[in-house]
Amino acid sequence: MKYEGHNFRLPIPNIRELWSLDPNITFLNHGSFGACPQAVLSMQQQLRSKLEAEPVRFFIREWEPLINESRNQLAHFIGADERDLVFVPNATTGVNAVLRSLHFSPDDELLTTNHEYNACRNALDFVVSRSDARLVVAKIPFPLESPQQVIAAVLERVSAKTKLVLLDHITSQTGLILPIPELVRELNLRGVDTLIDGSHAPGMIPLNLQEIGATYYTGNCHKWLCAPKGAAFLYVVRDKQSEIRPLTISHGANSPRTDKSSFQLEFDWMGTDDPTAYICVAEAIKFMSSLLSGGWDELRQRNHELVCQGREVLCDALKVLPPCPENMIGSMAVIPMPESWENLDFASIHDQLFDHFAIEVPLTPWQEKPKLLMRISAQIYNSIEEYKYLAEVLTSVRGEKERQR
Ligand SMILES: Cc1ncc(COP(=O)(O)O)c(C=O)c1O
Repeated sequence: MKYEGHNFRLPIPNIRELWSLDPNITFLNHGSFGACPQAVLSMQQQLRSKLEAEPVRFFIREWEPLINESRNQLAHFIGADERDLVFVPNATTGVNAVLRSLHFSPDDELLTTNHEYNACRNALDFVVSRSDARLVVAKIPFPLESPQQVIAAVLERVSAKTKLVLLDHITSQTGLILPIPELVRELNLRGVDTLIDGSHAPGMIPLNLQEIGATYYTGNCHKWLCAPKGAAFLYVVRDKQSEIRPLTISHGANSPRTDKSSFQLEFDWMGTDDPTAYICVAEAIKFMSSLLSGGWDELRQRNHELVCQGREVLCDALKVLPPCPENMIGSMAVIPMPESWENLDFASIHDQLFDHFAIEVPLTPWQEKPKLLMRISAQIYNSIEEYKYLAEVLTSVRGEKERQR
């Protein structure tokens, strides 16, 4: 099959050129690491030049008002009070900071789900083994028909011993939006704290952290907000902030300052580092909202519609059913691969798609049937033709595999 290039229909002609993406690749995996527009990267470069022009001036006088301002804009965007928010380099760090700050006893239960992201599940296993607490894993069915199945699966595993529930807002392998506002409300009523891993949520779905009411919430800015890599946040409800310490203890621990909470003083400075990704978060929010006349709402809606169309094209081509309703996905969708593909090595299919057809799309094994999942993403630079191209390629690869049998 011949690669046709990127002369695809896009909402804004040549919009892809606003990114540095390799023009030879059909890039259908915004979800893994995001992709940062050149305008935001160029602001980051200017900040880096400013930093290197006078590092002492930058770190003594300039960086703090800049990250405060960026944090204010982010707080506004995600419906939080800026005093409850700190920057962290990524969601994994946010999850670790919370889990490793808390103390659990052997009588405690920590609850998560079988859709939890591996890195954060490892952090959970680590604190559970350190404290001899018990880890309970709620099994969310997949495929599934409604958010109610998620609520039921989680709540039935809550007990009087449950101390904390770790939930993804949008799951990584299965691409599901979990009903977090409803679950948090139910868990709050039961007096159970919640740690929400919203790694994919900012920029993919509207967020109002104050309304959600979770105890802890972390999210990435380098994915769907398109900020530079290494920008994420951790939200902690006010009365728990004194308990949550960064993984690195630094100057903030004995700072005499009173203009900020120790929570912010400690997280804001974890030793010398490059803070430019944090400072660019506000610019990324502004840049992405400027792309379509309807701002973020139109962008999110357009990406959602595109991924739903892409899912339909791929499900039709592969003769499989969509695994969840459209209202449970944002701008990522998972396609269960047909049974005949299940014994194939997922890494080799990925390599074949990448090496022979220049398509970047993730395939991951799942715990039970359907055993192999393919996840597509839709960002403003993607078009329906790209999913059609993937569908054509998969149909031809499938035909080849069947002929070889
Ligand atoms: C649900 C979830 N949590 C956490 C992460 C980790 O993100 P990061 O590597 O930026 O910490 C991811 C990454 O895709 C994810 O999907």
